[in-house]
Amino acid sequence: MNLADITLLIETRKSHFPKEFNGQIADNDLISQMISNAHWAPSHKLTLPWHFIVFEQPKIEKLAMKIMDIQLASNPNVPQEKIDKIKLLPSQLSHAIAICLKPSKMVPLWEEYCAVGAAVQNMYLTLNAVPDFGGYWTSGNATNSLEMKEYLGLSENDEHLGFFFVGGIDQKRTHSKRITQTVVWK
Ligand SMILES: Cc1cc2nc3c(=O)[nH]c(=O)nc-3n(C[C@H](O)[C@H](O)[C@H](O)COP(=O)(O)O)c2cc1C
Repeated sequence: MNLADITLLIETRKSHFPKEFNGQIADNDLISQMISNAHWAPSHKLTLPWHFIVFEQPKIEKLAMKIMDIQLASNPNVPQEKIDKIKLLPSQLSHAIAICLKPSKMVPLWEEYCAVGAAVQNMYLTLNAVPDFGGYWTSGNATNSLEMKEYLGLSENDEHLGFFFVGGIDQKRTHSKRITQTVVWK
């Protein structure tokens, strides 16, 4: 792989959202590869703070119901549009990967958040290998609520940092928009 290849890989990484998902189910091998590639992210003192929990079909139905219950319990006036979106998830998603952090307490917590971010980027990049599946990191959907942490079997000190939703894609998009970045060279 040369510099042009790696730049192309990074620049063509793209989020795809549930409204684009066509209901196709990915092989578990793809999900396993995403997670095993995540494990190669950097972490200070090699604490490897990430922890992933995979929901496959048909269990996404239960997960969606849990998300809906938590949202309604925290706000009975949650907009109907939001509820409708959650209800659609089981028919749209292939897999939902809960992104969790188990703090090592060996390094500052902020360093562990950064490490998990790098791990999720590896999951995103892995999806570039397949033309017919995409996904994105959502920090909505009852992320890190007490009830969701309990549902995921996390302990008090663990963090739930959202989900990586994966779904089948008919029209994979490869062009994200970026404004020009500011870099200071000294
Ligand atoms: C930590 C994190 C949380 C995110 N949470 C959400 C979210 O809750 N809802 C959403 O639509 N997108 C979410 N995204 C995805 C961003 O919307 C997406 O990365 C951004 O629009 C840029 O698009 P791109 O990933 O295709 O470059 C999140 C991304 C990150 C890194």
